[in-house]
Amino acid sequence: MKALVLSGGAGTRLRPITHTSAKQLVPVGNKPILEFGLEAIRDAGITDVGLVVGETGEEIRAHVGDGSHFGLAVTYVHQPQPLGLAHAVLTAADYLGDDDFVMYLGDNLIAGGITAFVDQFRERRPSAQILLARVRDPERFGVAELDAEGNVDRLVEKPPRPRSDLALVGVYLFSHAVLEAARSIEPSARGELEITDAIQWLIDRGYKVHSQVIAGWWKDTGKLYDLLEANRIVLDGYEARVDGTLDADSEVQGRVVVEEGARLSNSFVRGPAIIGRGTRLVNTFVGPYTSIYHSCVVQDSEIEHSVVLEQSSIRDVRRLEDSLIGKQVEVGVSGRKPRAYRLMLGDHSRVGLI
Ligand code: TTP
Repeated sequence: MKALVLSGGAGTRLRPITHTSAKQLVPVGNKPILEFGLEAIRDAGITDVGLVVGETGEEIRAHVGDGSHFGLAVTYVHQPQPLGLAHAVLTAADYLGDDDFVMYLGDNLIAGGITAFVDQFRERRPSAQILLARVRDPERFGVAELDAEGNVDRLVEKPPRPRSDLALVGVYLFSHAVLEAARSIEPSARGELEITDAIQWLIDRGYKVHSQVIAGWWKDTGKLYDLLEANRIVLDGYEARVDGTLDADSEVQGRVVVEEGARLSNSFVRGPAIIGRGTRLVNTFVGPYTSIYHSCVVQDSEIEHSVVLEQSSIRDVRRLEDSLIGKQVEVGVSGRKPRAYRLMLGDHSRVGLI
């Protein structure tokens, strides 16, 4: 059995971060999202991974390499344009051959991994097995309608008036029959080859399509709010650990991870939170559900419920919440006259001023 991990895509909903970076490499709890998926695949006993990449392929390659670091053998599949999840499957047809595979969306996080799900597929051998989760806003997702016996009847992509609250989780298991389905369908109204249409094609022709409703949490991190939620959930699972240094005037409270080489001076961190390696906090308060990645400086500031990427600096800011700060970003107060906000923001940036 192989795995196909989808790490192409445009990531329009996480702009401007995704103008320059792969959204699958944005860290939650200071760990790139993609790594959670790769580890879940390895833990399910699968080592052969096809990684579908697009425009941000170089960055992903530089991070994952040949996969040996994760105990995997990774083959890269270049998808020239993000024309849909079923298109990604077709792009990988040579790599997949006649093998069964788990398809994992590289920006998804799922509690408890995928081992039970993969084992069930191996035992029952349907043509496809989908994972479903109950959600409050099904119109944002691919939605499954089940019949009285619980079999999948119909799949609809982002229905304006959903007839069920069962959303498709970004982990699917397929036999090679899905390749024929993907070849047979037409692009949807949004111009993509939809995986929901391919699975519907299998259902309509009498192939066995099983479903399983998951009990734990699952997050598609493609949007800011979901990413902050995922960060919150991941931080909740961490054990406190201080490998960096605190001066006599600093304190950490609750589940706080201070990574090696991080230095706290006259600062207070209330967990759950993580302070990355080489990051410096000076006269600063870091509140719950904050992840500050490596080599950042936060000085004379307060920050809570936020994710900060590497090599960024935040100075004299009271107070930052619900924020995602990109790499090498500088946020600060300038003493220059006249007193004014001075901004240099990328396209699609969002700023909330008070
Ligand atoms: P999506 O989040 O559905 O799409 P996207 O990445 O284009 O994001 P947005 O809607 O914000 O523009 O993609 C789910 C995952 O699958 C994500 O990791 C990107 C990947 N993907 C591909 O690899 N190829 C594709 O053609 C598409 C559509 C997505």
